[in-house]
Amino acid sequence: SPPKILITRAVFPEVVERLARHFDVESNQDDAEWSPAELAARLQGKAGVLTTGSVRIDAALLAACPDLRICANMAVGYNNFDLPAMTARGVQATNTPDVLTETTADFGFALLMAAARRITESEHYLRAGRWKRWRYDMFAGAEVHGSTLGILGMGRIGQGIARRGAHGFGMDVVYHNRSRLAPALEAECKARYVDKDELLRTADHLMLVLPYTPGSRHAIGAAEIARMKPGATLVNIARGGIVDDAALAVALRERRIAAAGLDVFEGEPQVNPALLACENVVLTPHIASATVATRRAMAQLAADNLIAFFEQNRALTPVNQVVVATK
Ligand code: GLV
Ligand code: GLV
Repeated sequence: SPPKILITRAVFPEVVERLARHFDVESNQDDAEWSPAELAARLQGKAGVLTTGSVRIDAALLAACPDLRICANMAVGYNNFDLPAMTARGVQATNTPDVLTETTADFGFALLMAAARRITESEHYLRAGRWKRWRYDMFAGAEVHGSTLGILGMGRIGQGIARRGAHGFGMDVVYHNRSRLAPALEAECKARYVDKDELLRTADHLMLVLPYTPGSRHAIGAAEIARMKPGATLVNIARGGIVDDAALAVALRERRIAAAGLDVFEGEPQVNPALLACENVVLTPHIASATVATRRAMAQLAADNLIAFFEQNRALTPVNQVVVATK
């Protein structure tokens, strides 16, 4: 009989139908909210799971679900997985890289533009009926073209943002990352490697695109914000928790930096009320990869990983190395 699979959240119907041609599938097309106990109960006997970044797969859950062999995340980030626990139990983990790179880079730029040019702040003003006369300094923001773009984290998405900045907006691009890009890639992105301190001090706009790890928690806190330019914009399309949201709210309120654009939050979907009270921040609900085409491609890649794992003993985009048992 085919392996049993659980799909933890609602997903494109054609993906459920496709998986049902390969597996015995239990899905959650009503998108019910499952407690950890209910998730564990539904995972009993399941060999694979297709899930999203909003569902935590931790050591306790893995211990309660000994039949589980693969967790396919419909996201490029996978900090919802306890990866060491998965590897220790021989559970394969996969993500969805590449298919969302350019779409997510587009959104990073959208947030940068919206924050620097005060688009949502001015729209709220207009909708509230407060626009009575034009004024020379009304919603005057920061220049984007020709400015210095700082990028923290230079994976595929960071490189997409660098290309947009350098080639599309004539920006001077500086970046910091655990490792330097190969010289040819640096040249193509027109990006210059700097240390973190120089990045903070020189960026007119700082874009965060690094994965969340215990080491990147509060990579941008009060001390880092204090080193940024007073007119700077901070954009976080990476993960909540990389920025100290409370410290950022204080800095925004006191205009120590000009503006921010945030797609991810500490403790999301809760958003720090101090951020909600700031006018100079653009807030979006974790939608950087949300185009119809890209979300479809992400779901299909997650499904492809499950199919390849069970039918060819080989996940397509693994994020850990496990010994795959051939049955
Ligand atoms: C979204 O946040 C993702 O990691 O794909
Ligand atoms: C991951 O961090 C990526 O940029 O694809």
